[in-house]
Amino acid sequence: MSTKVVIGAQWGDEGKGKATDKLAETADYVVRFSGGNNAGHTVIVQNEKYELHLIPSGIIYEDKKNVIGNGTVIDPTALIAEIEGLKERGHTFNNFYISEQAHVVMPYHKLFDGLEEKRKGDSKIGTTKKGIGPAYTDKVARRGIRFCDLIEEGIFKKKLKDILEYKNLILEKVYEQPGFSYQEILDQYLELAEEIKPYITDTSLLLDQAYQKGENIFFEGAQGTLLDIDYGTYPYVTSSNPTSGGVCIGTGFGPTKIDDIIGVAKAYLTRVGKGPFPTELFDEAGQFLLKKGHEFGVTTGRPRRCGWLDLPLLKYAVRVNGLTELVLTKIDVLSGLDEIKVCTSYGNDLHTTSPSGLLDNSTIVYESFPGWQKNISKIKQFNELPKEARDYINMIEDEINLPITVIGTGPAREDVIIRK
Ligand code: IMP
Repeated sequence: MSTKVVIGAQWGDEGKGKATDKLAETADYVVRFSGGNNAGHTVIVQNEKYELHLIPSGIIYEDKKNVIGNGTVIDPTALIAEIEGLKERGHTFNNFYISEQAHVVMPYHKLFDGLEEKRKGDSKIGTTKKGIGPAYTDKVARRGIRFCDLIEEGIFKKKLKDILEYKNLILEKVYEQPGFSYQEILDQYLELAEEIKPYITDTSLLLDQAYQKGENIFFEGAQGTLLDIDYGTYPYVTSSNPTSGGVCIGTGFGPTKIDDIIGVAKAYLTRVGKGPFPTELFDEAGQFLLKKGHEFGVTTGRPRRCGWLDLPLLKYAVRVNGLTELVLTKIDVLSGLDEIKVCTSYGNDLHTTSPSGLLDNSTIVYESFPGWQKNISKIKQFNELPKEARDYINMIEDEINLPITVIGTGPAREDVIIRK
């Protein structure tokens, strides 16, 4: 029996989908605990590419149970579209469960997400415009609609009426936009509720029963540590807790039952959307990483900003998540560079303990490492990597004081070096 967590140790897009898929081989349950369809996980199995947004990566396997926990916010239309797409590819949903306490992303959430970004102009966050922030805002303001509300027609009707009255007031008076039709949303969501109802259950209880039976449970993180509402580069963050503490809050699974917290980090660094990024590259090396790493958002298609690895931020992620091991991805993307740089400190200790303010790159200290030219994608043994690649990986391991147990060497599922 084991309970493992996979956490993004950077600004998301670290390659968690593949790591999860690889590490989920021994899992009985794969569980999402935060975020919504702002996430995008690419998984490649036997040359088949999957882009998952809401559904846990375990769906690729027939025998896994897949759970979406209460800490998530779910857009029912996006969910149904993703389910249909996967069904067409032969995947079944007999073992798929959604928490009754997860919150529903409503049409007004998506609209407000876009309107707020537009209103903010230059100071916008650069959100995915999937309604994630507004849905979490309503959850905290105690006017959210949960799936247990959605599937009870009487409750849903009453809640929708109350909430829509308030939303339409804001739309009309603040944004000077026409309000939503109660009847249209009601009809659409009652239909969606019927489709989703079979999956709704008490997932906290389900997971506890699985734990008591000795099943292997795997919690699949979305986004990353630096996008966490509490621990990220606020306000340029998402609205949930993708860090390890979010597992317990987002699933109702107690912290004492978790064995292993696996961080995933790229061998360099990327971010989508706005916000501080001290090691960002604006030169040829940045273009090299963008093109070679195919750094385009799975959810939005936006090019990702690329930069060198930032060790102070990685050490911070190790600390706030209590990571027990690290998966280092996309090391192959660095092949072909003459020189690889790494941020080792910020020169002062102002931002080395936490990125709570706007990170400052004026005093940043880089160390330079020699690159390697060899294509390393098919290498399966660590000691067969070029010496420069081994030195680079060993240096990271020493700095973060954590074992790097898996190394990603290419996009395919089998392109990994397993070290433990
Ligand atoms: P939101 O989650 O759509 O509100 O977006 C807030 C910030 O988080 C933006 O900078 C997004 O680009 C970023 N973000 C949200 N989800 C992901 C993800 O899965 N990967 C990378 N960045 C993300």
